[in-house]
Amino acid sequence: MKPKVYITRKVPAEIVTKIEDYCQVRMWDEADIPVPRAVLEEEIKDVEGLFCLLTENIDRELLGKAEQLKVISNMAVGYNNVDIKAAKEKGITVTNTPGVLTETTADLTFALLMAASRRLIESSDYLRSGNWKTWSPMQLTGQDIYGATLGIIGMGRIGASLAKRARGFDMDILYYNRSRKYDLEEELNLTFTEMDSLLKQSDFICIMTPYTPETKNLIGSRELSLMKNTAILINTARGGIVNEEALFHALKKGEIWAAGLDVFEQEPVSLDHPLLSLPNVVTLPHIGSASIKTRMKMADLAADNLLLVLQNQSPKHVVV
Ligand code: NAP
Ligand code: GLV
Repeated sequence: MKPKVYITRKVPAEIVTKIEDYCQVRMWDEADIPVPRAVLEEEIKDVEGLFCLLTENIDRELLGKAEQLKVISNMAVGYNNVDIKAAKEKGITVTNTPGVLTETTADLTFALLMAASRRLIESSDYLRSGNWKTWSPMQLTGQDIYGATLGIIGMGRIGASLAKRARGFDMDILYYNRSRKYDLEEELNLTFTEMDSLLKQSDFICIMTPYTPETKNLIGSRELSLMKNTAILINTARGGIVNEEALFHALKKGEIWAAGLDVFEQEPVSLDHPLLSLPNVVTLPHIGSASIKTRMKMADLAADNLLLVLQNQSPKHVVV
């Protein structure tokens, strides 16, 4: 008998076919609507494999209903949506999709940095709303990127790829990470700097850590107050790492100059969220890895991880 698998969102047909060669597949057949919790609670009961997205909260309570589950294959590198401890206790393997999305996410992070510093969205809106009457000396002026100081918090795969892009802009690159990266310091001319000092010195600060109990609210009012009032904060990691209320007040008071956010504490972010009312915040709907090629690679890797565990082999990327 083929093992049963549940896929929590409509994924491309070739991915379903690949899994179906070895498994009996059931799937939530919607691309843009997440599977309701009640459906997931029912579906998880008898499956051996779960293919899920970062939008699904795979918590202890849900795992308590899973009687046959061997593998949770998360189609994302971040896995803060999965209760890893509960999965481990039940002997369930958890896998993720690192690497294949690194360059695409670093591209988007740099794009957000450029959009926030040069006010791209605000300028486009200015033109389209008919406000552009003439060229004027200080109109829509922003902050320079070339030669500025970039502080990267979290020097992992994406952090390092971001640093490579920054080198092309002759930026001075500071980083903070829980462990020193001596090879990268040498290769990319990076300077390891304690957090507070990084916050004080950087013109741009990019968050690239995972979301964990240690990184929750890593950037709050104290950290924001240390930044330059011309600083630009970019977060493409996870929403909860930056305290949104503190960020709103810092931007409003002019403690920092702008922000670029691809991620939010609650996603999708509510349209009446205070941050969305500020012109100096560029907001994106969690599209860091959203290129066609990369999303296909992520889905394919998530399928491989799932199938390998169900075939009693080692997955390509295991969390636990
Ligand atoms: P990674 O290679 O694991 O890098 C994470 C880095 O953060 C590691 O170097 C790690 O240090 C460091 N770190 C962890 N906890 C820390 C702490 N408390 N203080 C300081 N540094 C800490 O992961 P990645 O592939 O670069 O991805 C990073 C994150 O980006 C993911 O977890 C995900 O949340 C997010 N992401 C978002 C998007 C998007 O669409 N916006 C796309 C992809 C990824 P060690 O080297 O010591 O472990
Ligand atoms: C996206 O946010 C990911 O973690 O892959």
